[in-house]
Amino acid sequence: MTTHVLNGEQLQKMKTHPGFIAALDQSGGSTPHALALYGIKKQSWADDAEMFDLVHQMRTRIITSPGFTGERIIGAILFEDTMDREIEEQPTADYLWKVKRVVPFLKVDKGLQDEKDGVQVMKPMPALAALLDKANSKHIFGTKMRSFIKQANPSGIESIVNQQFELAQQIIAAGLVPIVEPEVLQDGTHTIERSFHVTSRVLDAVYTELFDQRVDVFGTLLKPNMVLSGYGAADRAGHDEIARWTLECFYKHVPAAVPGIVFLSGGQSDEDATANLNAMNANGPHPWQLSFSYGRALQAPALRAWGGKEENVEAGQHAYYHRAKMNSAARTGSYAPEMEREAVTA
Ligand code: 13P
Repeated sequence: MTTHVLNGEQLQKMKTHPGFIAALDQSGGSTPHALALYGIKKQSWADDAEMFDLVHQMRTRIITSPGFTGERIIGAILFEDTMDREIEEQPTADYLWKVKRVVPFLKVDKGLQDEKDGVQVMKPMPALAALLDKANSKHIFGTKMRSFIKQANPSGIESIVNQQFELAQQIIAAGLVPIVEPEVLQDGTHTIERSFHVTSRVLDAVYTELFDQRVDVFGTLLKPNMVLSGYGAADRAGHDEIARWTLECFYKHVPAAVPGIVFLSGGQSDEDATANLNAMNANGPHPWQLSFSYGRALQAPALRAWGGKEENVEAGQHAYYHRAKMNSAARTGSYAPEMEREAVTA
C-alpha cells in the first residue's frame, strides 16, 4: 500500500476553519430513492451505468452551484463513482479543492451485513487497500464509513466498534483521516431516555476502544447521531429536550480532546435537524465544536425544489444554499425559525 502525506493546507482547513461537511455519498442501494426525490422515476434508466450518469448530473449541480464554496463547506463526502468522474473536466476531488476549496472525502464502506446481535456491521472490504491507494492517487483527504446500531446489545456494539477502529487504523496507516460513523437508528417508538442509553453505550465503547488501541484522537473525526425519541413515538421530545439529552450524553462520554463532532441527520426533517443543532450550540460554548455532516437534511429540500425539471435547477441550488446557511447559523447557536422565510441569495 502506498502511504501518503496529508495535504497540509487541507489539514489546516479541517482543523481551523469553521464549517460543515456536506455528505453527497448516497450510492447503490439508496440511489433509486434519491433519484425518485429528484423526480426521476426508475423507468428512466436502462441499467446501473445510466443511473450513475444521472446521479453524477445531480451531484454536479450541487457542487458547481455558486453557494457551494469553502467559505461554509469545509469538506464533502463522495462515493467511489463520483470520485472516479470529472466535474468541468477535472477529477471531482481536484475540482472540489482547487476550484471550491472544499476538502474531499470518500465513503469506503460497501454496505451492511444482515442484522445480528441488534446491529449491522459493514460488509467485508477485501479491496480496501486498493481503494485507499486509488483515493490517495485522486487526492482524497479522508474517508467515512457507517454502521447501524438498533439495540443496546453489548456484543453487537462491541463488534461495531471493533470493526470501525480496525478499519480506521488501516485508513490512518494509508495517510487518510477516517470519519467514524456508528449510527444508532431512531426508527421505532422508543423514548428519548432509551436513545440516550443506547447512544451512551456506543460512545463509551468508541472512546474506550480508541484509547485502548492508541488511535490518535486528532487523526479521526466522529460522526454521531443525536439523542432523539423514536420517529414513531407518540410523545416526541422537542428541540430543547433533545439538546439537553444529547449534550448530557456527550459530556459524559466524549473526551474534551476530541476536536470536532459532525452530526448526521439520520432521517430527521431538515428544519428539525437545524433547530436541534442550534439548541445545542445556543447552550455553548462546549469543549468540542458541534457541527454537522448532513446528507438527507441538506439535499432533500434541493431535490424537492428541482423535481427533475431543467427549469428548476436554480431553485434547487438555492434550496441547498439556504439549508447550508440555516445550518451554519445553527453551528453558532444563532438560528431562528423566522430566518427560514428570508429571501435566498446565493
Ligand atoms: P444523513 O444525514 O442523511 O443521515 O446522512 C449522513 C451520512 O452519513 C451520509 O454520508
